[in-house]
Amino acid sequence: MRNETIAIHAGYEADPTTKAVAVPIYQTAAYAFDSADHGAALFNLEVEGFRYSRIANPTTAVLEKRVSELEGGVGALAVATGQAALHFSFVNVADHGGNIVSVPQLYGTTHTLLSHILPRQGIVGRFAMSDSADAIERLIDEDTRAVFAETIGNPAGNVCDIEALAKVAHRNGVPLIVDNTVATPILLKPFDYGADIAVHSLTKFMGGHGTTLGGMIVDSGRFAWGKHADRFPAFNKPDASYHGLVYAERFGPKAFIERARSIYQRTMGAVLSPFNAFLLLQGIETVALRIERHVENARKVAEFLRGDPRVAWVNYAGFPDSPYYPLVQKYLGGNASSLFTFGIKGGMESGKTFYDSLKLITRLVNIGDAKSLACHPASTTHRQMSAEQQRTAGVLPETIRLSIGIEHVADIIEDIDQALARACPSRLEAAE
Ligand SMILES: Cc1ncc(COP(=O)(O)O)c(C=O)c1O
Repeated sequence: MRNETIAIHAGYEADPTTKAVAVPIYQTAAYAFDSADHGAALFNLEVEGFRYSRIANPTTAVLEKRVSELEGGVGALAVATGQAALHFSFVNVADHGGNIVSVPQLYGTTHTLLSHILPRQGIVGRFAMSDSADAIERLIDEDTRAVFAETIGNPAGNVCDIEALAKVAHRNGVPLIVDNTVATPILLKPFDYGADIAVHSLTKFMGGHGTTLGGMIVDSGRFAWGKHADRFPAFNKPDASYHGLVYAERFGPKAFIERARSIYQRTMGAVLSPFNAFLLLQGIETVALRIERHVENARKVAEFLRGDPRVAWVNYAGFPDSPYYPLVQKYLGGNASSLFTFGIKGGMESGKTFYDSLKLITRLVNIGDAKSLACHPASTTHRQMSAEQQRTAGVLPETIRLSIGIEHVADIIEDIDQALARACPSRLEAAE
C-alpha cells in the first residue's frame, strides 16, 4: 500500500465485537487473564496479548503498527514524547562506557541529552564537525554503539546523506539511528537507504495539529545484533532482569524494539496514553495531504523572502544553490522541508522586532503544526548551547526559524510582509 492508504488504514480493522469503524480508545490499565497459565505465558512473552498498559495497549498498538508500516519497519514502540523515544533508543544500544557519534545539527534538547545528561550515566555523545560521513567516521572507536543523525536537522535544515552515514556505521559494526521527525516517512523513508532505527516526535508533522505529545521508535529489523556480540552483549547474553532471556535469539529481527519495550518501557514507563494515541492516529490520517501543502506553501514563502531586499539570507534547501539541493532531490523527491530559517537585515534587534510584529504566525517553540509557527532558536530551543555549538547547529543570533503551515499562502506572506515593514521600515534603505 501507498503512504496515503497506510496512513488511514494500517493496523486496524473494524472491531470484531462492536463493529466500531474508528479506532476505539481502550482506556484500561490492565487486561484479564483466562487462567494462571495464560498470565504466565503472557509474562514469558510466549503468546500475543496484553497484560498491563505500561507495556502495551490495543489503541497504542494500532498507532505502532501504522507508523511502523509507514516507515517499512518490523515493529515499533510508542512512548510519551519524542524525547523519551530518543532516550530509550540511546540507552538500548549503549551502556556505561559506550559512546554515540552524532552529527552536530540537532534539536537543542537532543543535543543536551547527548552532551550533558547521558554522560552523567557514563554514555558519551560525540559531535562531529559536520554531517559528512568522513567527519562521523573519524570519531568512531571500539566503544561506539551507534551513529546518530536527524534526517533533516532542526533548525539547520541540513539534509543528511543517509546512505553514506549508514555505510560508515555498518563498516564499523554499529547501527545508524535517525530522528525522522522533520522529514516524516511521507518525504523520506530512511530504511530504504540503510538506516536501522527511526525515531519520531509524533508531536510535530505526524500528529500535525499541535495538540498532543508523542514519540515512536521504529525498528527496521535489519541490524544483525547477533553478529556483533562483543559490542552488544546486552542483546546476546542472558538478561538477568528478564529471567535469562537472550534478545537476539528470542526475537531475531525484532530484538531492538522488544528489548526497548520490555526493559525501558516496562521499568521507566514513559507511556503514551491511549487517548493521545487516538488523537495522533486522527492526525496521521491526513499527514500525506498536509505535507504536500506544507511543502508547496514553504517554497512560495522562501521565494518571497529571497526576493525581498529587507531579508539578509534565507537558508532553504529547495534553492538550487543550497549545498543540500542535490540531497533534497535524492532523498526527498525534490520536496524541501517546510522548516527553514532566515535572517533579516539589521541583525538581532531587527529580527526581534520582526518576530514581535507577527500577527498570524504564532510565536512559540514547536514545529509541524497545521498553523504557521515562528521561533527564535538562540533565545529558546538552543539557549543551553554555547555560541560555538549554536553556530555548528545552524543557529545565528538573528536566525528566525519558520515552520510553514497549511493556511492560504497569501495570508502567510502578507503577515511576513507587514512584520518586515515594521522591522525594516524602508525597502529602499534595506536595499542599500
Ligand atoms: C527533531 C526533533 N526531535 C525530537 C523532538 C522532541 O520531541 P517531543 O517534544 O515530542 O519530546 C523535537 C522537538 O521539537 C524535534 O524537533
